[in-house]
Amino acid sequence: MSEIDTATNATTETAVAATATTAPTATAPTTPTSVDDVAQALASHGYLADEGLATAIFLALALKRPLFLEGDAGVGKTEVAKVLSSWTGGELLRLQCYEGINLAQAAYEWDYARQLLHLRAVEATGESARQAEDEIYDERFLVRRPLLRALEPTLGPVPVLLVDEIDRADDEFEAFLLEILSEYAVTVPELGTVRAEQPPIVVLTSNRTRDVHDALKRRCLYHWVEHPSFEREIEIVALRAPQAAGRLARQIAAAAAALRELGLYKPPGVAETIDWASAVAALGKAELDEHVVDVTLGAVLKYQEDQHRVRAAGLSDIVAAAVLRSG
Ligand SMILES: Nc1ncnc2c1ncn2[C@@H]1O[C@H](COP(=O)(O)OP(=O)(O)OP(=O)(O)O)[C@@H](O)[C@H]1O
Ligand SMILES: [Mg+2]
Repeated sequence: MSEIDTATNATTETAVAATATTAPTATAPTTPTSVDDVAQALASHGYLADEGLATAIFLALALKRPLFLEGDAGVGKTEVAKVLSSWTGGELLRLQCYEGINLAQAAYEWDYARQLLHLRAVEATGESARQAEDEIYDERFLVRRPLLRALEPTLGPVPVLLVDEIDRADDEFEAFLLEILSEYAVTVPELGTVRAEQPPIVVLTSNRTRDVHDALKRRCLYHWVEHPSFEREIEIVALRAPQAAGRLARQIAAAAAALRELGLYKPPGVAETIDWASAVAALGKAELDEHVVDVTLGAVLKYQEDQHRVRAAGLSDIVAAAVLRSG
């Protein structure tokens, strides 16, 4: 349940009263008893985490701390929040960061158009300007964005707040986020402070296009998400692209691992491996050969320079390495 602090004017008191009578109580987040518990629960929702990641998630839930996930593109960072939401039943509140994102887009803003319409309507009735002004800062004119919604009262499990690609946002936004993650509270000047009684589950992700400030990282548990091991990637492909299970999944995982060794501009992530397996299977192939690698390269490498480099190095080498490793 959230509370609204210190009433400073009549409008705030109205908001306090309204919230106090209607606020339901959030359920504490699922508290798993072991790292294995977490790994199994995630697996049952289609996500295969290694021990390091499962431990980080376990600790984030046990200690009720935000989890900061950094790693290359496509390694499964965003998916962690989605899968936590389907596991715990908490609503997924996703905040996609971008350059210039601000409080209005992230936490709340007043719906000016509706406020204006209300003012006009009130004017017509001859109500006083002062009274009309109080009315337009009513909660019904407040547009709630993910950061505010994550702190509000909810029935059932606490929500999962995903702050995706924080490295795209500016410093000022990071400072604002820092404040929220320290207090789990947001102040709407006209209404008061919304404070979460149960902290939401928070997952922040970054592709490390720039370093996030230490102060923000200090509030979080940090985990660098690695590309999966060969065996795990086979399991992930089998799970996510079952049509490519068996020998093809092994070959694709081996070929993806080989591509990652080539120092490419954008080495394939798990997402690309899954796409590649689906593409090859869709062409009716049960095994890799030079021709099928050639025609499906766009499913796994998305930069022309990378494709050129791999072709120049020899597609037959990739196929041979994949066949050899996959046994
Ligand atoms: N460990 C895993 N188990 C199952 N599926 C996975 C795993 N890791 C990644 N995936 C799959 O890969 C896809 C891409 O993952 P996701 O979008 O989370 O990557 P990301 O790290 O957030 O990438 P980006 O940095 O590009 O946003 C997901 O849709 C998911 O299907
Ligand atoms: Mg992502």
